[in-house]
Amino acid sequence: MKTVGIIGASGYTGGELLRILVNHPQAEVKAATSRENAGDPVYRLHPQLRKLTDLKFIEPDVEKIAETCEFVFLALPHGASAPVAKKLLEHGNKVIDLSADFRLKSKDDYPKWYGWEHPCPELLDQAVFGLPEFHRNEIRNAKLIANPGCIATASILSLAPAIKTGAVDKSRAIVDAKIGSSGAGTHVSISSHHPEHSGLVRPYKPVMHRHTAEIEQELTFNGVKPTIAMTPHAIDMVRGIMATGHMFLNREITNQELWKAFRELYQNEPFVRIVKDVKGLHQLPDPMNVVGSNFCDVGFEIDPHGKRVITFGAIDNLLKGAAGQAIQNFNIMIGVDETTAIRFPGVRPV
Ligand SMILES: NC(=O)c1ccc[n+]([C@@H]2O[C@H](COP(=O)([O-])OP(=O)(O)OC[C@H]3O[C@@H](n4cnc5c(N)ncnc54)[C@H](OP(=O)(O)O)[C@@H]3O)[C@@H](O)[C@H]2O)c1
Repeated sequence: MKTVGIIGASGYTGGELLRILVNHPQAEVKAATSRENAGDPVYRLHPQLRKLTDLKFIEPDVEKIAETCEFVFLALPHGASAPVAKKLLEHGNKVIDLSADFRLKSKDDYPKWYGWEHPCPELLDQAVFGLPEFHRNEIRNAKLIANPGCIATASILSLAPAIKTGAVDKSRAIVDAKIGSSGAGTHVSISSHHPEHSGLVRPYKPVMHRHTAEIEQELTFNGVKPTIAMTPHAIDMVRGIMATGHMFLNREITNQELWKAFRELYQNEPFVRIVKDVKGLHQLPDPMNVVGSNFCDVGFEIDPHGKRVITFGAIDNLLKGAAGQAIQNFNIMIGVDETTAIRFPGVRPV
């Protein structure tokens, strides 16, 4: 049994970590923090957990948490995680960080994409990008996991097979992403106010979205970095991401060749499903079919007229895009079956 703590447990990803961990056979949650709700039972803020845990929120006292917990999940805003992770690592804890603070390998990328100098660049080398499908072996022995971004997870997993074939132009791949409102966390703003959010299809950060950097980093194969042009849209759903990739062909490619590329990468992956059916309503991925689960559904089409490959990646942003993937990494780190406590289907209808 491993002792675990969650710093930032009152947020949406913190709530999902708790929901999974209360039923995890190898984890005992010893600490769940909230500055605003310290002393309150966690079910007051996460009512879905009533009768499942007696845990109470505590203050984020890092020294104390370092003493009581072996593993610590950080579900903190960007920028707040790095100094906390540094302290925990110095104490000998293992850290799974859900923020972006350790995802980029080059310290020079932080001012460019995040607008700040990294406070502990010496830790970037030891951080492992926590995408099990790409980095499983490094995750096993890691002390610091940089859990991938949500749009990044859906984009990387769906674009990778086509890029690996070499049949598409790596210098101009486009990702058009749609994301539900929980992607913005619990912090309220005018853009999350119901009259402003209901029914919307709102492009935001149409250029230079931060996830672009980690998508390009992880889709660099044989030293060739692609150029990804990504534009996200906030849409009227609570959970879910759909990343639609458009890549232009530099030679002909058959369905069979692309199928092979997808199968080679994912046929043994427990949480990636290739969805390309010939009948029915669900012939391609749709966030509706993964919401509530840790699955990433990927699929593709070849467009002979537009001379492009279109790829689709659907996830639940709070699960495969955050807390579910974090537990998948935890499972790998502690050496249990990777699917422990997270092998459940989505919820349908939503
Ligand atoms: N939402 C998603 O779909 C998603 C997906 C992938 C990654 N992420 C990343 O995961 C992290 C958490 O996201 P979220 O959506 O769960 O955010 P959230 O709902 O806003 O929750 C943030 C949590 O951090 C705590 N917190 C904020 N500032 C703090 C500080 N200085 N010290 C200690 N605690 C602090 C808050 O608790 P109190 O204020 O109560 O202390 C709250 O529990 C973010 O970095 C986010 O970018 C989110």
